[in-house]
Amino acid sequence: MEYKKIIIAIDGHSSTGKSTVAKQLAKALGYIYVDTGAMYRAVSLYAMRKGFIDESMFDAEALEEKLSEIELKFEINSETGLAEVVLNGENVEREIRTLKVSKFVSKIAAVSSVRKKLVEQQQKMGKDKGIVMDGRDIGTVVFPNAELKLFMTATAKDRAERRYLELTERGEKVTYEDVLKNVVNRDHIDSTRKDSPLRKAEDALKIDNSNLTLKEQFEQILQISKTAIETH
Ligand code: DC
Repeated sequence: MEYKKIIIAIDGHSSTGKSTVAKQLAKALGYIYVDTGAMYRAVSLYAMRKGFIDESMFDAEALEEKLSEIELKFEINSETGLAEVVLNGENVEREIRTLKVSKFVSKIAAVSSVRKKLVEQQQKMGKDKGIVMDGRDIGTVVFPNAELKLFMTATAKDRAERRYLELTERGEKVTYEDVLKNVVNRDHIDSTRKDSPLRKAEDALKIDNSNLTLKEQFEQILQISKTAIETH
Protein backbone atom coordinates (compact mmCIF):
# COMPACT_ATOMS: atom_id res chain seq x y z
CA MET A 1 0.00 0.00 0.00
CA GLU A 2 1.25 3.43 -0.98
CA TYR A 3 1.09 5.87 1.92
CA LYS A 4 0.65 9.63 1.56
CA LYS A 5 3.80 11.64 2.10
CA ILE A 6 3.95 13.81 5.21
CA ILE A 7 6.04 16.64 6.61
CA ILE A 8 8.22 15.82 9.60
CA ALA A 9 9.32 18.90 11.54
CA ILE A 10 12.22 18.47 13.97
CA ASP A 11 13.00 21.37 16.29
CA GLY A 12 15.03 21.67 19.44
CA HIS A 13 18.03 23.12 21.19
CA SER A 14 21.42 23.37 19.49
CA SER A 15 23.56 20.24 19.36
CA THR A 16 20.77 17.85 20.27
CA GLY A 17 21.54 15.65 17.28
CA LYS A 18 18.55 16.87 15.28
CA SER A 19 20.38 16.74 11.99
CA THR A 20 21.84 13.28 12.65
CA VAL A 21 18.44 11.76 13.28
CA ALA A 22 16.76 13.81 10.53
CA LYS A 23 19.28 12.53 7.96
CA GLN A 24 18.83 8.91 9.08
CA LEU A 25 15.08 9.28 9.01
CA ALA A 26 14.97 10.86 5.55
CA LYS A 27 17.15 8.05 4.20
CA ALA A 28 15.01 5.31 5.77
CA LEU A 29 11.76 6.85 4.49
CA GLY A 30 13.05 7.99 1.08
CA TYR A 31 12.26 11.59 2.05
CA ILE A 32 14.16 14.81 1.33
CA TYR A 33 16.19 16.21 4.23
CA VAL A 34 16.58 19.94 4.73
CA ASP A 35 18.93 21.39 7.34
CA THR A 36 17.60 24.92 7.91
CA GLY A 37 20.39 25.74 10.39
CA ALA A 38 22.80 25.43 7.45
CA MET A 39 20.90 28.21 5.70
CA TYR A 40 21.21 30.59 8.68
CA ARG A 41 24.87 29.61 8.97
CA ALA A 42 25.50 30.40 5.29
CA VAL A 43 23.93 33.86 5.69
CA SER A 44 26.18 34.36 8.75
CA LEU A 45 29.25 33.42 6.72
CA TYR A 46 28.21 35.92 4.06
CA ALA A 47 27.83 38.66 6.72
CA MET A 48 31.21 37.80 8.25
CA ARG A 49 32.97 37.92 4.90
CA LYS A 50 31.39 41.28 4.08
CA GLY A 51 32.48 42.67 7.47
CA PHE A 52 28.89 43.22 8.63
CA ILE A 53 29.50 41.33 11.87
CA ASP A 54 32.45 40.66 14.15
CA GLU A 55 33.13 40.38 17.90
CA SER A 56 32.47 44.05 18.49
CA MET A 57 29.72 45.03 16.05
CA PHE A 58 26.78 43.89 13.93
CA ASP A 59 25.46 46.12 11.14
CA ALA A 60 22.09 44.44 10.59
CA GLU A 61 20.95 47.17 8.20
CA ALA A 62 23.90 46.61 5.87
CA LEU A 63 23.06 42.91 5.78
CA GLU A 64 19.38 43.61 5.12
CA GLU A 65 20.30 45.80 2.16
CA LYS A 66 22.27 42.96 0.60
CA LEU A 67 19.80 40.16 1.29
CA SER A 68 18.60 40.01 -2.32
CA GLU A 69 22.18 39.23 -3.37
CA ILE A 70 22.31 36.08 -1.27
CA GLU A 71 21.41 32.92 -3.14
CA LEU A 72 21.26 29.65 -1.24
CA LYS A 73 20.96 26.21 -2.76
CA PHE A 74 21.61 22.65 -1.73
CA GLU A 75 23.68 20.25 -3.83
CA ILE A 76 24.13 16.53 -3.30
CA ASN A 77 27.65 15.36 -2.50
CA SER A 78 28.04 12.33 -4.77
CA GLU A 79 30.33 10.56 -2.28
CA THR A 80 28.19 10.90 0.84
CA GLY A 81 24.80 11.27 -0.84
CA LEU A 82 24.08 14.19 1.51
CA ALA A 83 22.89 17.69 0.65
CA GLU A 84 25.47 20.45 1.12
CA VAL A 85 24.80 24.17 1.22
CA VAL A 86 25.89 26.38 -1.66
CA LEU A 87 26.22 30.16 -1.12
CA ASN A 88 26.23 32.20 -4.33
CA GLY A 89 27.65 29.27 -6.29
CA GLU A 90 30.28 28.26 -3.69
CA ASN A 91 29.97 25.09 -1.63
CA VAL A 92 30.48 26.33 1.96
CA GLU A 93 29.42 23.19 3.81
CA ARG A 94 32.70 22.88 5.73
CA GLU A 95 33.17 26.52 6.53
CA ILE A 96 29.71 27.02 8.03
CA ARG A 97 30.32 24.33 10.68
CA THR A 98 33.12 26.15 12.49
CA LEU A 99 32.73 27.52 16.03
CA LYS A 100 33.39 30.99 14.61
CA VAL A 101 30.21 30.83 12.53
CA SER A 102 28.33 29.33 15.51
CA LYS A 103 29.30 32.36 17.56
CA PHE A 104 27.54 34.79 15.21
CA VAL A 105 24.68 32.76 13.81
CA SER A 106 22.12 33.39 16.56
CA LYS A 107 22.44 37.15 16.05
CA ILE A 108 21.91 36.76 12.31
CA ALA A 109 18.96 34.42 12.88
CA ALA A 110 17.26 37.05 15.05
CA VAL A 111 16.89 39.46 12.10
CA SER A 112 13.27 39.32 10.86
CA SER A 113 14.01 39.98 7.18
CA VAL A 114 16.58 37.17 7.15
CA ARG A 115 14.01 34.82 8.68
CA LYS A 116 11.33 35.91 6.20
CA LYS A 117 13.56 35.18 3.23
CA LEU A 118 14.66 31.77 4.49
CA VAL A 119 11.21 30.69 5.71
CA GLU A 120 9.72 31.40 2.26
CA GLN A 121 12.41 29.27 0.64
CA GLN A 122 11.84 26.47 3.18
CA GLN A 123 8.08 26.48 2.61
CA LYS A 124 8.63 26.11 -1.14
CA MET A 125 10.93 23.13 -0.54
CA GLY A 126 8.18 21.40 1.43
CA LYS A 127 5.28 22.01 -0.90
CA ASP A 128 5.24 18.41 -2.20
CA LYS A 129 5.73 16.98 1.32
CA GLY A 130 7.91 13.88 1.77
CA ILE A 131 10.34 16.03 3.70
CA VAL A 132 12.19 15.97 7.01
CA MET A 133 13.20 19.49 8.02
CA ASP A 134 15.11 20.42 11.14
CA GLY A 135 15.59 23.80 12.81
CA ARG A 136 14.12 25.93 15.56
CA ASP A 137 10.79 27.14 14.14
CA ILE A 138 9.77 24.40 11.74
CA GLY A 139 6.78 23.13 13.72
CA THR A 140 5.77 26.60 14.95
CA VAL A 141 6.28 28.86 11.91
CA VAL A 142 7.49 27.14 8.74
CA PHE A 143 5.04 24.20 8.81
CA PRO A 144 2.53 24.75 11.61
CA ASN A 145 0.39 22.02 10.00
CA ALA A 146 3.19 19.44 9.78
CA GLU A 147 1.78 15.95 10.33
CA LEU A 148 4.56 15.05 12.77
CA LYS A 149 6.46 17.44 15.04
CA LEU A 150 9.33 16.44 17.26
CA PHE A 151 11.09 18.64 19.80
CA MET A 152 14.51 17.42 20.82
CA THR A 153 16.39 18.40 23.91
CA ALA A 154 19.20 17.24 26.22
CA THR A 155 21.20 18.83 29.02
CA ALA A 156 23.59 21.62 27.98
CA LYS A 157 26.49 19.57 29.34
CA ASP A 158 25.63 16.53 27.21
CA ARG A 159 25.19 18.69 24.13
CA ALA A 160 28.47 20.55 24.64
CA GLU A 161 30.35 17.27 25.11
CA ARG A 162 28.97 15.95 21.80
CA ARG A 163 29.71 19.18 19.92
CA TYR A 164 33.23 19.37 21.42
CA LEU A 165 34.02 15.84 20.20
CA GLU A 166 32.62 16.62 16.75
CA LEU A 167 34.71 19.80 16.38
CA THR A 168 37.96 18.34 17.70
CA GLU A 169 37.56 15.24 15.52
CA ARG A 170 37.37 17.63 12.58
CA GLY A 171 40.65 19.21 13.70
CA GLU A 172 39.27 22.46 15.15
CA LYS A 173 41.25 23.85 18.08
CA VAL A 174 38.56 24.62 20.65
CA THR A 175 38.17 24.22 24.39
CA TYR A 176 35.25 22.42 26.02
CA GLU A 177 34.48 25.56 28.07
CA ASP A 178 34.19 27.63 24.91
CA VAL A 179 31.84 25.13 23.31
CA LEU A 180 29.67 24.94 26.46
CA LYS A 181 29.52 28.72 26.60
CA ASN A 182 28.42 28.84 22.95
CA VAL A 183 25.69 26.20 23.50
CA VAL A 184 24.27 28.08 26.52
CA ASN A 185 24.53 31.45 24.80
CA ARG A 186 22.77 30.23 21.65
CA ASP A 187 19.99 28.63 23.73
CA HIS A 188 19.47 31.99 25.35
CA ILE A 189 19.43 34.09 22.17
CA ASP A 190 17.38 31.54 20.19
CA SER A 191 14.73 31.23 22.92
CA THR A 192 14.39 34.91 23.79
CA ARG A 193 14.46 36.57 20.35
CA LYS A 194 11.28 38.42 19.36
CA ASP A 195 10.74 36.80 15.98
CA SER A 196 9.97 33.05 16.00
CA PRO A 197 11.71 32.16 19.27
CA LEU A 198 12.69 28.57 19.84
CA ARG A 199 9.82 26.89 21.63
CA LYS A 200 8.10 23.55 21.58
CA ALA A 201 4.92 23.58 19.50
CA GLU A 202 1.99 22.45 21.64
CA ASP A 203 1.43 19.40 19.46
CA ALA A 204 5.13 18.44 19.26
CA LEU A 205 6.42 15.30 20.90
CA LYS A 206 9.30 16.04 23.27
CA ILE A 207 12.32 13.76 23.10
CA ASP A 208 15.03 14.15 25.74
CA ASN A 209 17.97 12.20 24.39
CA SER A 210 20.43 12.81 27.25
CA ASN A 211 20.35 9.11 28.05
CA LEU A 212 19.65 7.60 24.64
CA THR A 213 22.22 6.16 22.26
CA LEU A 214 22.00 7.26 18.63
CA LYS A 215 20.66 3.83 17.70
CA GLU A 216 17.97 3.84 20.39
CA GLN A 217 16.92 7.33 19.46
CA PHE A 218 16.72 6.53 15.77
CA GLU A 219 14.66 3.38 16.34
CA GLN A 220 12.26 5.26 18.57
CA ILE A 221 11.82 8.11 16.10
CA LEU A 222 11.51 5.83 13.07
CA GLN A 223 8.69 3.95 14.78
CA ILE A 224 6.91 7.20 15.68
CA SER A 225 7.31 8.41 12.07
CA LYS A 226 5.98 5.20 10.55
CA THR A 227 2.92 5.39 12.76
CA ALA A 228 2.39 9.03 11.76
CA ILE A 229 2.69 8.14 8.07
CA GLU A 230 0.24 5.25 8.38
CA THR A 231 -2.36 7.36 10.14
CA HIS A 232 -2.37 10.28 7.70
O1 DC B 1 20.90 23.85 13.82
P1 DC B 1 22.15 24.76 13.85
O2 DC B 1 22.88 24.73 15.16
O3 DC B 1 23.04 24.53 12.69
O4 DC B 1 21.53 26.24 13.71
C1 DC B 1 22.34 27.38 13.72
C2 DC B 1 21.59 28.55 14.29
O5 DC B 1 20.59 28.99 13.36
C3 DC B 1 20.89 28.36 15.61
O6 DC B 1 21.65 28.83 16.70
C4 DC B 1 19.61 29.14 15.48
C5 DC B 1 19.42 29.38 14.04
N1 DC B 1 18.28 28.71 13.44
C6 DC B 1 17.06 29.33 13.50
O7 DC B 1 16.93 30.39 14.11
N2 DC B 1 15.98 28.78 12.87
C7 DC B 1 16.10 27.62 12.22
N3 DC B 1 15.03 27.10 11.60
C8 DC B 1 17.34 26.95 12.17
C9 DC B 1 18.42 27.51 12.81
